[in-house]
Formats: sequence, C-alpha cells, structure tokens
Amino acid sequence: MKNGKLGFIGIGNMASAIIGGILSSGTFPVGDIYMYNPHAEKMQRFTESGCVACTSAEEVTELCDTVFLCVKPQIFPEVLRVIAPTVAKKNADDVVIVSIAAGVTFKNLQDALGADRRYVRAMPNTPLLLGEGATALCRTSNVPEEDFARVRSAFSCCGVTQEIDEAQMNAVIAVSGSSPAYLYLLAKLTCDYAAQQGIDPKTALTLFCQTMKGSADMLLNSGKDPQALMDMVTSKGGTTFALLNVLKEQGFNEAMISSFEACTHRAEELSM
Ligand SMILES: NC(=O)c1ccc[n+]([C@@H]2O[C@H](COP(=O)([O-])OP(=O)(O)OC[C@H]3O[C@@H](n4cnc5c(N)ncnc54)[C@H](OP(=O)(O)O)[C@@H]3O)[C@@H](O)[C@H]2O)c1
Repeated sequence: MKNGKLGFIGIGNMASAIIGGILSSGTFPVGDIYMYNPHAEKMQRFTESGCVACTSAEEVTELCDTVFLCVKPQIFPEVLRVIAPTVAKKNADDVVIVSIAAGVTFKNLQDALGADRRYVRAMPNTPLLLGEGATALCRTSNVPEEDFARVRSAFSCCGVTQEIDEAQMNAVIAVSGSSPAYLYLLAKLTCDYAAQQGIDPKTALTLFCQTMKGSADMLLNSGKDPQALMDMVTSKGGTTFALLNVLKEQGFNEAMISSFEACTHRAEELSM
C-alpha cells in the first residue's frame, strides 16, 4: 500500500537542496519526509522543521514508497546492497527508487534491486540550491503517471523539470548538469578581463550576470532562435563581429563540442 512518504538516503548538497525546496513550497506534508545520513548532524536542520530522521537506509526504504538515493556514485553499490533485502520484501508497485547519480543506469539499479521494480533517474544541477535548478528526469516504462508526478513535483519545488529518455541521460549532463561550470568559467574570464581594464569586479559581475539572465529570457521568450539573437547583436564590421570572429578563428565551437563529448564519455565510464 502506498503511503505518500518520501525518503532520502544521503543528506548532502543535493538532497538538502531538494528537501529545502519541498519545505519552502509546502508541496508535501513535512511529516512525510524521512531521511538518513551517517553523520546525523546533517539532518538536524530538517528534523527541527519536522522531517523524520531514521537510523539506517533500510529504515527509510521500509517506511517510504518513494526513495531518493542521493549518495556519491562510488557509495552507490554499498547503499544498493544495504537496501536490497528491504526492497525485495515490498510489492513491486509499492516503491519507486529515484537515483540522482551520474552514470548509474536503470540496468545497474535493476541488477541490484530487481527488474520488476519502478525506477526514476534524475540529473539535477547546483542552482537547485537556490530553487533555480534544472532537472532532467527519465523513468522505466512501468512507472505510472501518478508515481512519476510525485517524483517530478519534488524536483519542481526547486526549479524546472523536463522528461527525457534514458538513452539521452549522459548527453544531458553537458546541457544542464555540468553546464553551470562553463557558465561560471565564462563569468570568471569576463570579470578577470574587466579587472585588467580597471573595471571594479563587483560592477563587472553585476553587469555580466544580468546579461546572462536577460539573454536567457530572450532565448526563452523572444520567439527567436540562438542564431537569430546572435545576428541581432552583430553588425558586420562591428564590435560583436570582431569578438565572434576571434572565437571562430581560435576554434571555440570545436572546443565546446569536444568538451560536451568528453562530459558524456565520462558519464559512460562512470556507469557501475
Ligand atoms: N553536485 C552536483 O552538481 C550534482 C549534480 C547532479 C547530480 N549529482 C549527484 O548527486 C549525488 C549527491 O551529490 P552531492 O553533491 O549531494 O554529494 P554530497 O554532498 O557528498 O552528499 C552525499 C551524502 O551521502 C552521505 N553518505 C555517505 N555514505 C552514505 C551511506 N552509506 N548511506 C547514506 N548516506 C551516505 C554523505 O554523508 P557523510 O558526509 O556523513 O559521509 C553525504 O552527506 C551524487 O551521486 C552526484 O553524482 C550532483
């Protein structure tokens, strides 16, 4: 029997962001949120808010029908081994296992916990910490809409969600999981250049960040595609033209594509 309880195993950065989002949105009753972390102090702020701390991963799995595995990929085999007997005792339709680890596949989860169980994979990103995340989700074909909606709404508390196929899950890391890093790199390079030119770093950061936000809004809401928006900023022989020409000459596009491929390839290597 389903009871609507959400369980979190591994209360680090990501789980804390998701639980924090759930608490601020009020989407789920606080008493329906269960968790386990080896260092209990990481659960303290959530227990103070009314979430329930468990003493083991097995206990979370036993009590909850949606279980989020939020540990590092290298800890996954251990956690799967620990919860497997508890998962086996449940009816197949009474538990959904959600993994947020890069490279842990449905096959890995099915081999460890059973082929008949229900699984969701999620690829969130760090802006989730501020409720501005982007999470790609996929599910095994046996996950019904109602169960998937529950998982999706947990991530929707901290940003946008999109459903994709599992086959795209490694490639999407370059799109949203890892991409904050190259946006931060762009911010760093731009602000370092601004500093060399005598512009106050805080002033440069404010201008650059608003440019990223405004450009994102243009991409989402102007009805124009990226090329058309680039064309709007670029007049032949002008400053943007000069900027883009150097990027082209120095192989920026090829470097970006190679970096996306390396990111996807690394996720494939990380598969258990
Ligand atoms: N960070 C990102 O940008 C990002 C993006 C997408 C996906 N992810 C995925 O999210 C997952 C979690 O990442 P994170 O950044 O939140 O990591 P994290 O901050 O290191 O959190 C992992 C937590 O797992 C706990 N843990 C360790 N061993 C455990 C065990 N045997 N049973 C239960 N809990 C255990 C750790 O507790 P102790 O500290 O007490 O040992 C820690 O609090 C990873 O699989 C990662 O691939 C991360």
